[in-house]
Amino acid sequence: MRVLVTGAQGCIGAWVVRRLVEQDHEVVTFDSNDSTARLEMISSPDLVAKVDRRIGRIEDTEAVKRLIAEGAFTHIVHLAAVLMPFCQKNPVAGGMINVIGTLNIFEGVRDSGRPVPIVYASSSAVWGPTDEYGEGPLTEDMPLKPSTHYGVFKAANEANARNFYASDGISSIGLRPWTVFGPGRDAGLTADPTLAMRAVARKQPFQIRLSGHMDLQYVRDVADIFIQCLFSGTAGAHVFNLRGEVIEMEALRLLLDEIRPGSTELISVEGPEVPVAYRMSDEALVKTVGAIPRTPLREAILETIQKFESLVD
Ligand SMILES: NC(=O)c1ccc[n+]([C@@H]2O[C@H](COP(=O)([O-])OP(=O)(O)OC[C@H]3O[C@@H](n4cnc5c(N)ncnc54)[C@H](O)[C@@H]3O)[C@@H](O)[C@H]2O)c1
Repeated sequence: MRVLVTGAQGCIGAWVVRRLVEQDHEVVTFDSNDSTARLEMISSPDLVAKVDRRIGRIEDTEAVKRLIAEGAFTHIVHLAAVLMPFCQKNPVAGGMINVIGTLNIFEGVRDSGRPVPIVYASSSAVWGPTDEYGEGPLTEDMPLKPSTHYGVFKAANEANARNFYASDGISSIGLRPWTVFGPGRDAGLTADPTLAMRAVARKQPFQIRLSGHMDLQYVRDVADIFIQCLFSGTAGAHVFNLRGEVIEMEALRLLLDEIRPGSTELISVEGPEVPVAYRMSDEALVKTVGAIPRTPLREAILETIQKFESLVD
């Protein structure tokens, strides 16, 4: 298959690219950033060399449409976006990238006359704060109450994707990660659990600047789920929650100490809670695409710390 991956130099993107190349797919990437640092961190130079890299901005309608018209892609993974803090401070620029950029991908597919399937990153930020919902798990039929510009943009993308299926027959799956963690995660509001793991590996102090619960999702599993959805042949415009393991930040600190004794002396927790409900059900996803990878949290954290330790060495 020939797959276009946007936002490919990012954390999830690097893992999606690595896994696609490992499965012998042709990969073309599109990103405003030319650095392959994250892919280099997790792959061999041979693998990096197999990727056809294009540089451009996702909100550049003409460039994106040309890329899709000429690219002969069979599938698209759309990840390019700016994250929560940027969107809250710069709603206009954030909207151009996150909403217009996503419209560019769908309209580019429509105009190419080849309705190739698209899997795109939505976000758990489409949900409002925990107290907006009851005790039970969040299912995809419940009302969205995003409390940030970023969440509103992602909810708009989901609604636009439904329209592109209804009017143009473009099938898509939007996935809603919560906090993705693992090697390569270093940007955005919820990067702190990964930055804490890196600090443990480096034996440096670090403050997790958020408190309360987070649903931690291992980046390798997340990338594999994107790819599983991409090749699932699912028709329609779907949106699914992703679920990892929910953990309170103080409990994460203790878990880090169990894995690498002495970590509680390095890691502290202080800050606000993320205003996003965290009890997501992923039953609908599993029902549609079958069993999905679920690396246990402790094992995923250990792998992450070991990776960072190898980089220190
Ligand atoms: N990481 C998480 O916990 C998380 C949670 C929910 C949703 N998501 C979504 O998953 C996707 C990937 O997230 P990530 O963690 O890999 O983020 P990231 O910041 O690591 O990667 C985003 C990539 O998009 C690129 N990009 C930004 N602006 C661009 C533009 N104008 N044109 C082209 N490329 C541009 C960046 O250069 C970067 O390589 C995003 O859509 C994000 O909203 C991530």
